[in-house]
Amino acid sequence: MSGQKNRQVLVKKLPDGIPLEDDFEMGESAIPEPQDGTFRARTLVLSLDPYVRAVMSGRHFYGAPKPGDVMRGRSVARVDASRHPQYREGDVVVMESGLQDYAISDGDDVHRADTGTAPVSTALGVLGMPGLTAYAALLGPAQIKEGETVLVSAASGAVGSMVGQIAKINGCRAIGIAGSEEKCRWTESEAGFDACLNRKTDDLHARLSELAADGADIFFDNTGGDIQNLVMTKHLAVNSRVILSGLITQYNLPEAPPGPNLGNLCKMRTTVFGFVVYDFEHMRERFLTDAKRWFAEGKIRFKEDMTEGLETAPAQFSKLMHGDNFGKTLVKVAE
Ligand SMILES: NC(=O)c1ccc[n+]([C@@H]2O[C@H](COP(=O)([O-])OP(=O)(O)OC[C@H]3O[C@@H](n4cnc5c(N)ncnc54)[C@H](OP(=O)(O)O)[C@@H]3O)[C@@H](O)[C@H]2O)c1
Repeated sequence: MSGQKNRQVLVKKLPDGIPLEDDFEMGESAIPEPQDGTFRARTLVLSLDPYVRAVMSGRHFYGAPKPGDVMRGRSVARVDASRHPQYREGDVVVMESGLQDYAISDGDDVHRADTGTAPVSTALGVLGMPGLTAYAALLGPAQIKEGETVLVSAASGAVGSMVGQIAKINGCRAIGIAGSEEKCRWTESEAGFDACLNRKTDDLHARLSELAADGADIFFDNTGGDIQNLVMTKHLAVNSRVILSGLITQYNLPEAPPGPNLGNLCKMRTTVFGFVVYDFEHMRERFLTDAKRWFAEGKIRFKEDMTEGLETAPAQFSKLMHGDNFGKTLVKVAE
């Protein structure tokens, strides 16, 4: 590897509000050499995820980065040098690599990229952590049952699209909320939702009153904010379950806004579950078995928002945090 460098996306300054390209800068280091018990992997595809914004605000257990640190991120990567007993050159893994060309790992929190007949990039999306979030929450705490109405926000994203598709596989009605006509069309015609409402142009209260007159049995909340307030106060069924999955409306704010009046949760006997995917590792194997089969049977569609080149990662992250991504936000770094 002599002469080659490890290109990196570094934090230039911690963002104030929505992260901008200028909050990051490119840097480089020597390509690291693995020591005993570790391997080195070449990044192939990088994942950009909303939770990283919470990390940057110091609101995540990973802790806030400092200027000059490599920006956090998971990737699909190929092992290219190993002194680790369980990983060999050529193995393709999902790992916490950071946004860089090469990373060293001791094997902790590493999974083999196992996507069956689906493209390997789906190990970061519908067949990865976002897919597991949808699966584990619906089959676990939400206790999904045939015939129910499942409502999900950010419906065309990696988490949201899997929520609707798993709902349909389980014999439920799936209603999505998304941020554009294009996203809604894809959500209905490709992902097979029964309906998708445009949060920017539809009267959500009127449309939900028509489409789910008795309320949603499961509300899978990926956004918080106005959508959460509306659904929690007016569109829940009796004995409904709410999965608090994501609060992307708050990730760019300096502090949490005042909360809704939760009286309706009592009236509707609603169970609210604060969901964190890391607590559901025990469901990963079952999820992968089901998700790979569903994919092979043509029951899972996915959308990716992928650019090429490590240097495009800051703009992709900014786009995601503006809500302008359409599908799982990825960056292709190498073949
Ligand atoms: N709890 C967990 O363990 C867990 C695990 C993974 C992900 N999550 C959460 O799940 C959510 C979806 O994640 P993802 O990776 O699949 O991302 P994603 O849905 O592909 O991207 C985020 C989407 O959020 C929507 N959005 C952004 N800003 C918004 C705003 N101000 N108001 C309403 N909607 C806004 C946008 O969709 P529209 O324009 O279509 O609304 C945007 O495309 C995120 O909140 C994430 O943090 C939680």
